[in-house]
Amino acid sequence: MYRYDEFDYQIVNERVAQFRGQVARRLSGELTEDEFKPLRLMNGVYLQLHAYMIRVAIPYGTLSSKQLRMLAHIGRKYDRGYGHFTTRQNLQFNWPALKDMPDLLHDLATVEMHAIQTSGNCIRNVTSDQYAGAAKDEIEDPRIVSEIIRQWSTFHPEFSFLPRKFKIAVSGTPDDRAAIRVHDIGIQIVRDGKDAIGYEIYVGGGLGRTPMIGKKIADFVPKEDLLAYLEAIMRVYNMYGRRDNIYKARIKILVHEIGAEEMKRQVDVEFAEIRKTGALHLPAEEVARIQAYFAPPGYETLPDESTELNKAVLADRDFANWVKSNVAAHKVPGYAIVNISLKPIGGTPGDCSSDQMDAVADIAEKYSFDELRVTHEQNLTLADVRKKDLPAVHAALKAAGLATANINLITDQIACPGLDYCALANARSIPLAQQISERFSDLDRQHDIGELKINTSGCINACGHHHVGHIGILGVDKKGVEYYQVTLGGAADEKTAIGDIVGPAFTEEQIVDAIETIVTTYLGLRQPGERFIDTYRRTGIDPFKESLYATH
Ligand code: HEM
Ligand code: SF4
Repeated sequence: MYRYDEFDYQIVNERVAQFRGQVARRLSGELTEDEFKPLRLMNGVYLQLHAYMIRVAIPYGTLSSKQLRMLAHIGRKYDRGYGHFTTRQNLQFNWPALKDMPDLLHDLATVEMHAIQTSGNCIRNVTSDQYAGAAKDEIEDPRIVSEIIRQWSTFHPEFSFLPRKFKIAVSGTPDDRAAIRVHDIGIQIVRDGKDAIGYEIYVGGGLGRTPMIGKKIADFVPKEDLLAYLEAIMRVYNMYGRRDNIYKARIKILVHEIGAEEMKRQVDVEFAEIRKTGALHLPAEEVARIQAYFAPPGYETLPDESTELNKAVLADRDFANWVKSNVAAHKVPGYAIVNISLKPIGGTPGDCSSDQMDAVADIAEKYSFDELRVTHEQNLTLADVRKKDLPAVHAALKAAGLATANINLITDQIACPGLDYCALANARSIPLAQQISERFSDLDRQHDIGELKINTSGCINACGHHHVGHIGILGVDKKGVEYYQVTLGGAADEKTAIGDIVGPAFTEEQIVDAIETIVTTYLGLRQPGERFIDTYRRTGIDPFKESLYATH
C-alpha cells in the first residue's frame, strides 16, 4: 500500500489546522454559511438535508485494517456508530457536528487519510478495480497508475478551478469493474503488439442529467507519456469547458459538442507541446518507486485445490451459496477473492456499522494481508484469502452479520441517499431499495434469477448510477408526489450502455410490483445460460413494455 511521505504528512496536517480556524470563525458567526461554503467543500464537508456530511477519500478503494479501525472509531465517536460506503469508493459520515469536524480530520490524518478533493471542481478520488493485484487476467495493477495520478493531481494549480468536478477511473483487466466508460477520463491498461504496457484513453463519459458513454481518443499512450497526455486533456477542458452553465460544464458536454475526433485533435496538439518540454515525462525509476508500494503480498505456494474448502462446501449449504456468489477466482493458486456484501436483506446499501468495520479489519488482518478494498458497487473486498481459510472467514463474517450471499444478485443494489438525506432529492431511494430487497429475499430465487443489477437514484444527478443499472430506477417528482421512472438494459462494464426508458413512471405503490413483472418477464423469455442483460439485449424492450403496461 502507498505510505505517506513527509510532504504528505505536512500538507494534510496544515490543512487540518487551517480548517480548524475556518470552523471556529463559522461557529462564532464571523463567517456566514455562504462564505464558509467554499472552505468546507475544499475539505469534503457538505450540507445535507438535516446535517453536515463529510466525505472521506479512499484512494482507489484500498484501505489497511488500521485505517478501517480508525473509520470505525470515527463512526462511534463523531457519528451514530456507522459509515456509508459510496459508489466512488469513498466513505461518508452523515451526522458529525460541525464543531467536531477538525478533530475528526485530525484523527483521520493519523492514519494517512483526509477528505481533500472529495468535493468541488477539481480532480476527485481516482477509482479503480477492487480486484487490483489479484485478478486473473490483469495486465498490470491499476493502483500504480492511480497513485501516480493522485500525486500529480493533488493540489495541481491548473486544476483547482476546473469548469466542473472531474472523475478518473482505471481498469487493469479487460473485464471492467471500475465503470471507466462513465467517467470523465477512463483509463484501460493494455498491451501493444510488442508486449509493452500502455493506456487506452476514454474521455467524456458521465451520468447525471445528460448521460454519456466515454469516447476512445487514444489506443495506446506509452507509460512514460501518461501524465503529459492527461494534462493535455485537462488543458483542453480548462480552455473550452463551459463555465457559463453548470449543466453544460462537464467534459462530456465539450466532447459531445465538438465531437471525439476534434477533441482528439486538440488533445494531440497540447500533448505535442507538453512533450516538447519533457517536464511531464514519467521516469521509469519513479514508476518503479510507486510500483514497490504495491508489490504482491507474501503469497504461500499452495495447491490450487483445498480439501478443507471442498468439504465445507458439501457440508454447509449456506457456505456453498456464499462461495458461489461472493467468492471470485484469484491469480495465485490456492487463493481466492472474497466479496463482502453490504446489502443485507432490508438494509441500507453501503452502510456499515463501526462494530462491523472493526470485525472486517480483524478478518483482513488475520486472513488477507491486513488490507481490504471498497467497491464502486458499495461492497467490500478481501483480495487475498487462502482457499483453506474460506470457511473460517465465512464464519467470522457471519458472526458480524456480513455473510449475505448476494453479490451481483438482485438484492445487491446500488442506491443513492435520496430523500432521506439529500436536499436535491425528488424521491426516496433507500426505502425503495429495502422494499425490493425484502420482496426478493428468498436466496434460491435470487440464485435462480442470476446476475441482475438494480440501481436507484433519487434525482437526475444519478449518484446511484441508475442509467447503467440493468434495471435503473429514477425518482421523479410530479406535482409534489414521488414517482419512479424505470430504465432497462444499462450496464457499466466493458459493454457499457445507457438504459432505455420503458414508459410512464410508476407510483410508490406500483414500483416494486413493476420490478417483479420485469423479472417474471425475463424468466419467461430467457434461454439457457442467459443473464437478464443477455436476454434484454436479444429481445429488446418491447416484451417488457407489453407486460408492464398491460398490467398497470
Ligand atoms: C447527499 C449528498 C449528495 C449531493 C448533494 C450530491 C450531488 C450530486 C450532484 C449535483 C451530482 C451531479 C453532478 C454533475 O453531473 O455535474 C452528483 C453526481 C454524482 N454523485 Fe452525488 N451527491 C450526493 C451524494 C452522493 C453519494 C452518497 C454518492 C455515492 C453513493 C454520490 C455519487 C455520485 C456519483 C457517482 C455521481 C456521478 C455522476 C457523474 O459522474 O456524472 N453522490 N452528485
Ligand atoms: S442522485 Fe440526487 S437524490 Fe440521490 S444523492 Fe445524488 S443528488 Fe441526492
